[in-house]
Amino acid sequence: MGARRGAHFKLPTGRFPLKFRDMPERIQKPPRHWRREIDFILISREQLARRVRALARQIEKDFAGRDLVIVALLNGTVVFLADLLRRLSLPLRLDFIGVSSYGGGTEPAELVFTKELRLDVSGRDVLVVDDILDTGKTLSQIMVKLRKLRPRRMKICVLLDKPSRRTEPVSAHYIGFKIPNHFVVGYGLDYAERYRNLPFVGVLRPEMFKNPDFIPLLSRKKRRLLQGVKTTMEGGAKDLNHG
Ligand code: IMP
Ligand code: MG
Repeated sequence: MGARRGAHFKLPTGRFPLKFRDMPERIQKPPRHWRREIDFILISREQLARRVRALARQIEKDFAGRDLVIVALLNGTVVFLADLLRRLSLPLRLDFIGVSSYGGGTEPAELVFTKELRLDVSGRDVLVVDDILDTGKTLSQIMVKLRKLRPRRMKICVLLDKPSRRTEPVSAHYIGFKIPNHFVVGYGLDYAERYRNLPFVGVLRPEMFKNPDFIPLLSRKKRRLLQGVKTTMEGGAKDLNHG
């Protein structure tokens, strides 16, 4: 099943209207210590850096001279946002909205707001930043909420877009990459709160989320580490999936 080094990139299943910018020509294997969990790298750190630079240039041009407020959704945007912000040389203010869905799986669940916006956005230009536009349920609710605050205009920027999964009529103005229907992790994106720290966007091995108790699939060393974490987190808000 695993991708062979040097194999030409093939979409594993189904047809996909391919508009995937910077599509890797070859499947890239993740570093050795992630291979048990990550099937292959979908977007490398170099491709991410290039695309973030291009997005920043476009945003700078569109918001020059405006009173810009960036509203980022927690927690999935942290890595992408930090890289994007460093590339933006225009005056702006930053605030966050915290959204969580109950359940740690791959399907969206009921939204819970864990942090409300504090900056005043009325009459201002708002750029909403999210990690991935999937069904569109999160962003459509966020847009309804923000529209009530009467901003001058609102634009959406997402790192990833999975158009084949959309159920709500919402689209983004700035898109890093359109991707096929894979469950991806890394560069801020999680599965059950893990993998946010990967420096690339990778496709999780299906066995990782088919089996919710995936710890036995890990190496002995990682298993010990994770089991330690599990015990110390007992009693915390462990079933909240943070954005
Ligand atoms: P939506 O409400 O269905 O558009 O989903 C948006 C949220 O679901 C994102 O902000 C992510 O937290 C999560 N999500 C959707 N697809 C993925 C994925 O492939 N990997 C990780 N998280 C995802
Ligand atoms: Mg998430």
